[in-house]
Amino acid sequence: MSAIRRTAWMAAVGALFAATGATAQVVSMVSSPHDLSAGSAASVRASSEDQVCIFCHTPHNASPIAPLWNRAMSPQAYLVYTSRSLDAKPGQPTGDSKLCLSCHDGTIALGSVLSRATPISMAGGVVTMPHGSGNLGTDLRDDHPISFRYDSALATKDGKLRDPSGLPASVQLDTNRELQCTTCHDAHNNAFGKFLVMRNTNSELCVSCHTVGQTDIQGHAQCVDCHQNHTAPSGELLLKKQNITKTCTSCHDGSHPKAVDVASDMTKISAHDTSSVPNPDGGFQANSTCTSCHDPHTMTRGTAARQTGPGPRTGSLGRLGRIDGVNASGAPVSVISAEQEVCYKCHGDGNVAMPRVGRRISNANVRLQFSPSAVSMHPVGVSGRATDVPSLRPGWTTSSTMRCGDCHGSDSGAGGIHGSSHPGLLVAAYETRDFTSESAAAYALCYQCHDRASILENRSFPGHKLHIVDKQTPCAACHDAHGIAAGQGRPSNNSHLINFATAIVLPDRVTGKLEYRDTGGFTGECFLSCHGVDHSPKRYPTGP
Ligand code: HEC
Ligand code: HEC
Ligand code: HEC
Ligand code: HEC
Ligand code: HEC
Ligand code: HEC
Ligand code: HEC
Ligand code: HEC
Ligand code: HEC
Ligand code: HEC
Ligand code: HEC
Repeated sequence: MSAIRRTAWMAAVGALFAATGATAQVVSMVSSPHDLSAGSAASVRASSEDQVCIFCHTPHNASPIAPLWNRAMSPQAYLVYTSRSLDAKPGQPTGDSKLCLSCHDGTIALGSVLSRATPISMAGGVVTMPHGSGNLGTDLRDDHPISFRYDSALATKDGKLRDPSGLPASVQLDTNRELQCTTCHDAHNNAFGKFLVMRNTNSELCVSCHTVGQTDIQGHAQCVDCHQNHTAPSGELLLKKQNITKTCTSCHDGSHPKAVDVASDMTKISAHDTSSVPNPDGGFQANSTCTSCHDPHTMTRGTAARQTGPGPRTGSLGRLGRIDGVNASGAPVSVISAEQEVCYKCHGDGNVAMPRVGRRISNANVRLQFSPSAVSMHPVGVSGRATDVPSLRPGWTTSSTMRCGDCHGSDSGAGGIHGSSHPGLLVAAYETRDFTSESAAAYALCYQCHDRASILENRSFPGHKLHIVDKQTPCAACHDAHGIAAGQGRPSNNSHLINFATAIVLPDRVTGKLEYRDTGGFTGECFLSCHGVDHSPKRYPTGP
């Protein structure tokens, strides 16, 4: 077919539109995927029809719908986009979106036009939109929401949307201020590819409406690194894999040379199980997912080098981003200011993990164990109660503070509290069974910060070596690694993290008591029965 004839036809329809005062950018349309004429370079095209505009427009017998529309509208009922975070209320497709869907929902023959009694036949036996990326189907739950009003009220409610008055000129809402397919696409202009109304190579189109935040992480610089605007495998949230975890671990699984492998930690015996969220059954908080702890849009590379060895953590919270949490007093915060605040969302007042070691004083609320008012605690967030801890290794003092991540996290060198080969998601081994032979490896966790020689030389508790080495009693028999909450214990009985493990330490058969008494300055006494030996009481430094 001759290019001149095609151009002439375009001019004719163009003139017709021009007469109505309308103009269109039609030049870059020729041989684009929307040029369905037989002479087009597009893969989907007519067998012999040589007109370009006819598939969508006709000067005669047009449907009453502007602009001189040449197609019947699909009578389909669509499934529309929904998500737990959506503020907009998309209804059935309206306006120009219906024009697009008259081909793109895959239900109407491409060649079926109002101006012809028989449908235009397509090359290669194609009838409706071929299955593939162009066929959106009638299930639009996996496509960017459309056909809803995008006004200032919506922008305010969402909080992370630009006011629509500030949209670039090429990004237009329809006359009802609704967002449609044509807000992002121009069916006639393929200058930017995919018929987009503006460039999106640097996410320009997305950020013309969304203000989700900034990141300095190279691997996440573009929205499409994680999102897919159409036919998204996750459905809600438009992620490029089935769920959040799979999206993140599509790079963080060792396959990407620059992305830390987190997926292999997640398969270890003790892990935050992030595999099933979001899932079709809902239940978002039943499990954790990557975005329980990381805000996907504002996390950064952090300002300090990654720390995985011993020594107080000094890094910023950048890798977690502006994530919400619960503070030490139990109040929700929209942006955390300390790592443990993200943990208290789940391990505080709404506890999900059961205590691993049954104790004399039982507490499932980790937040209260580390509260600034606790009777005794490892110093997470605030300095601890102790004034004399001779075993502390260089770098640690009694005014140090620490993070959950000093004890919990990967055993293999990757940062983050994702998974470990050690039970309890611990960074290093910590045996809690009775009759454990003492070794540097058995209590490696404690010996990261407490000098093994100092402990076994009895610099504080004179009975350390006797119990730990000779009697093979684990640290956990006497010590609670977290702390003892205010109101649950007393400084006279629960200092030095003493909170006996009830599977090992029983009440004294003589007095019936199970009790420790701190008598000050490395002195104290115990009422209990252990390994068959009653302490009724036994005192240190010099016991009866
Ligand atoms: C694949 C479908 C399709 C084809 C082919 C097509 N158009 Fe359109 N056209 C549309 C849609 C959808 C609209 C309404 C949305 C819009 O304004 O972009 C439209 C609107 C228009 C308008 C009105 C624009 C306005 O601002 O109101 C003009 C003029 C126009 N088309 C001209 C043409 C010409 C000339 C051709 C042939 C060269 C052509 N179109 C081919 C889909 C198509
Ligand atoms: C007459 C039928 C028809 C109408 C109406 C139509 N399209 Fe298409 N569109 C097609 C065909 C055919 C393809 C090519 C599909 C393929 O190659 O598998 C296509 C491809 C596309 C592509 C992909 C381009 C690429 O480079 O891969 C986009 C984006 C698109 N259309 C958007 C729209 C939008 C938005 C509208 C409404 C404004 C619309 N289309 C209306 C038939 C239509
Ligand atoms: C919020 C913006 C936005 C809206 C609204 C939107 N799209 Fe898209 N669409 C995009 C972007 C961006 C791409 C390119 C994706 C890419 O490059 O991977 C795209 C791609 C496409 C493609 C090509 C698919 C592919 O993977 O190559 C088709 C077809 C399409 N859109 C049709 C539509 C139709 C039909 C509608 C309305 C029902 C619509 N779009 C609404 C932004 C949008
Ligand atoms: C014309 C403005 C506009 C453009 C361009 C745009 N969006 Fe949207 N997008 C919106 C609006 C408005 C909503 C509805 C937000 C709401 O109600 O919570 C939305 C919703 C979404 C949602 C679903 C949010 C949820 O809570 O379920 C995602 C994901 C999304 N957009 C991603 C993108 C990406 C990625 C791009 C670029 C390819 C993009 N958007 C381009 C305006 C836009
Ligand atoms: C590193 C991956 C990643 C990148 C890059 C990314 N997102 Fe997201 N986005 C997600 C995940 C994961 C969620 C779901 C968060 C949740 O609900 O837990 C999400 C949620 C959203 C939402 C809905 C919730 C909200 O915060 O309003 C919108 C809108 C959105 N993203 C837009 C964008 C835009 C626009 C860009 C580019 C500027 C972008 N995203 C870049 C992963 C990413
Ligand atoms: C498209 C691949 C890709 C996806 C998807 C992806 N990441 Fe990344 N991520 C990277 C790369 C590459 C880096 C390192 C880039 C750099 O150093 O700037 C990185 C860095 C990070 C960092 C900072 C690590 C550091 O060294 O400071 C965090 C945290 C992170 N990603 C978390 C996530 C989370 C959570 C998700 C899902 C919401 C995700 N990533 C999705 C590729 C990806
Ligand atoms: C979204 C909820 C959630 C958040 C936030 C969360 N966790 Fe968890 N955590 C869980 C769940 C659920 C489990 C049980 C294992 C599983 O199925 O994922 C768990 C298990 C654990 C375990 C292992 C317990 C055991 O008995 O083996 C440790 C340790 C842990 N979390 C520490 C932390 C720390 C430290 C933080 C803060 C950085 C944190 N968690 C944040 C939900 C959460
Ligand atoms: C000094 C090391 C240390 C610190 C700091 C620490 N933990 Fe633990 N945590 C342990 C040990 C050891 C266990 C398992 C055995 C035990 O209880 O003695 C444990 C167990 C857990 C468990 C399983 C349930 C339970 O109570 O036994 C959760 C959940 C947990 N920690 C969360 C946290 C959170 C959240 C933080 C920060 C607020 C934190 N941990 C700080 C050492 C620590
Ligand atoms: C990340 C470093 C670190 C690790 C790991 C660690 N501790 Fe500590 N520990 C400290 C610091 C710092 C103090 C001083 C706290 C204070 O001043 O109250 C301390 C204090 C103590 C105290 C004295 C508390 C008091 O109030 O007198 C005991 C007992 C203790 N740790 C036992 C353990 C045991 C058992 C383990 C192994 C489960 C362990 N620690 C692991 C850093 C650590
Ligand atoms: C329970 C909370 C939690 C969950 C769930 C979680 N992370 Fe993390 N992640 C952390 C913490 C805490 C850090 C360490 C931040 C720091 O030290 O700066 C971290 C660090 C990282 C890092 C940087 C590691 C490094 O060595 O620099 C990456 C990458 C990462 N996370 C990705 C992910 C991905 C992907 C997922 C989901 C599969 C995920 N995270 C789930 C808490 C979590
Ligand atoms: C039989 C009970 C018992 C066992 C088992 C035990 N401790 Fe202790 N530990 C104590 C008592 C009692 C004190 C308090 C001494 C005082 O200040 O009066 C103490 C004090 C400490 C202190 C604080 C003072 C110092 O030396 O820095 C640390 C640290 C400590 N223990 C670590 C450990 C570690 C690590 C293990 C296991 C390898 C362990 N303990 C096993 C009873 C025990």
